[in-house]
Amino acid sequence: MHDKFDRREFLKIGSATTLGVGTLTTAFNFGVAEEVKPVRLGMIGVGGRGTSHVELLLAMGGVEIPAICDINQEHLNHAQSLVEKAGRKRPEGYGRDVEDYQRLVYRDDLDAVLIATYWDWHTPMAVCAMKSGKYAAVEVPAGLTMQDCWDLVNTHEETGVPCMMLENWSFRRDNLAVLKMIRAGLLGEVVHCHCAHSHNCIDHWFFDSEGNMRWGGEYLVKYNASQYTTHALGPVFGWMDIGCGDYFDKVVSFANRSLGINHYFQNKFGANHPNAKRKYAQGDIVTTLVKTKKGNTVVINYDMQLPRPYDNRWEVQGTEGIYNEQRNSVYLAGRSPKYEEWESFDPYQEKYEHTWWKPVQQKASTKRGAKNEIGDQIALGHGGADYQELNQFLKAVRNKTQTPVDVYDSVIMSVINPLSAKSIAEGGATVDCPDFTRGKWQTKKPAFAFEI
Ligand SMILES: NC(=O)c1ccc[n+]([C@@H]2O[C@H](COP(=O)([O-])OP(=O)(O)OC[C@H]3O[C@@H](n4cnc5c(N)ncnc54)[C@H](O)[C@@H]3O)[C@@H](O)[C@H]2O)c1
Repeated sequence: MHDKFDRREFLKIGSATTLGVGTLTTAFNFGVAEEVKPVRLGMIGVGGRGTSHVELLLAMGGVEIPAICDINQEHLNHAQSLVEKAGRKRPEGYGRDVEDYQRLVYRDDLDAVLIATYWDWHTPMAVCAMKSGKYAAVEVPAGLTMQDCWDLVNTHEETGVPCMMLENWSFRRDNLAVLKMIRAGLLGEVVHCHCAHSHNCIDHWFFDSEGNMRWGGEYLVKYNASQYTTHALGPVFGWMDIGCGDYFDKVVSFANRSLGINHYFQNKFGANHPNAKRKYAQGDIVTTLVKTKKGNTVVINYDMQLPRPYDNRWEVQGTEGIYNEQRNSVYLAGRSPKYEEWESFDPYQEKYEHTWWKPVQQKASTKRGAKNEIGDQIALGHGGADYQELNQFLKAVRNKTQTPVDVYDSVIMSVINPLSAKSIAEGGATVDCPDFTRGKWQTKKPAFAFEI
C-alpha cells in the first residue's frame, strides 16, 4: 500500500518541487553553502518525544512548522497550539488515519520531515520522505528489521536524499570530547568498547504509571532482542570508525531470564494483575558481543526492565589508554600522573571541548538528569544533546549537505536489534552483519563531527 501511494504521489509532485525525479540524485551537492532561510519542517508524531522536539525547535528559531501529523487528536491539538502560542501560524493538522502522514509528506512547502512515532512506522515514513525529496530525521531506531534497514539504504541510494537517525547520544558533550581525544591519538589504536542502554523504563515508558501496557511494552511480549541499542552505540560508531574504516562483522547475543517485569507488577499491583502473570519473551539483560572486520570488539548491553539508576557504561580502550564514563575518568599511559591509576576526565573535557559545544559549554550540563545551570530551553533536552543533533540536522537541510549521521550510520546502529534477536533465537549463534555500505566502509573517510 505504501509503495503504490508513494510512487503515484512521487511522480505527481516531481514537477511541483524543485527536486524532480531525474534530478534527485544530483540535487544534494554535499559541500558547504550559505545558511539562508528558515527550514520548513513537517512533524509526524507529537507524543512525548515529538512535543519536546517542537518546543526545542520553537526555542531555537530558524524553523517553520507548517504541518503536523498525529493520529492522537489531543497530541495533535496540543502541538499545534504550542506553535500558535509561540506567535507562529497554526500548523495544518493531519491524522485521519495511520497513513495520513503521506498527505503531509507530499506537501510542496516542506524541506524536511521529523518522525517521532511508534517504532513500526519509522522506516515507512522515512522512506516516504526520501521518495518525496525531503530530508528525513527519524527517531531511534531508524529501522526494526533487516528489511527496514535495506529499505532505508536502498531508498537513499535511489533518491540521493539524506536520512538521519536522531541518536542524541552521538552529540553528547563528553562523547564528542572523547572522540576528539581518540582522533588526537591519546588512546592509541582503539581496540575495544563497552556500551549499554541501562534505563529502567518499566514504570513510565513500556507501561504507564497505572500499569497499563503502552505500545513499547508489546515488543517485550513478542521479542527477545537488544531492543534499544542506538543509545548505547551512539558515540561508539564514531569512536571506532564503524562504516568508515571498520565495520561490524560477527554478532553473538545471549539473553538471561525474564523476571524483572513480572516481579515489578507482582510487587506494585499484586500477583493477580494481568501484567504480573503475563509471559514476556524479553530477557532482562541482553549481552551482545560484536567482532569488527578489523578484529576489534564491542560489548553492548540491553538493560531496561530492572530497578537501577540510568547509565550507558561507556568505556573505550586503546593501546595507549582508556576512558570510562561511569568513573568520569581516563588513564593514559605515560601521561596520567600516576602509573595505572585513574585521573579525572574533567581537564580533558575542557581541553578537547568540541566546537559545537563551545558556545553552550557553561550552559548545559553533560549528565542526564543533572540540574541545568541555566533555565535555557536549549539546554533542557538531554543536557543540550537534543539541541546539538537538531541544530546539525537543520544546518544540513539549509545547506543541502549530507547529515552528520547518515543513512549508513543510522542502520548500523539499528541493525543490532534484529541481529541479536536472530542470535538469541538460535541459541547464541554467531550471525553475520550485512554490509549496508556494499564495501564502501573500506574507503570511506570518517566524517562525523569533524571540526572545520
Ligand atoms: N532519542 C531519545 O532520547 C528518545 C526519547 C524518547 C523517545 N524516543 C523515540 O521517539 C519515538 C516516540 O516516542 P514517545 O515516547 O514520544 O512515544 P509516544 O507514544 O509518547 O508518542 C508517539 C506518537 O506517535 C503517534 N503516532 C503513532 N503512529 C502514528 C502514525 N501512523 N501517524 C501519526 N502519528 C502516529 C502517536 O499517536 C503518539 O502521539 C520512539 O521511537 C522512541 O523510541 C527517543
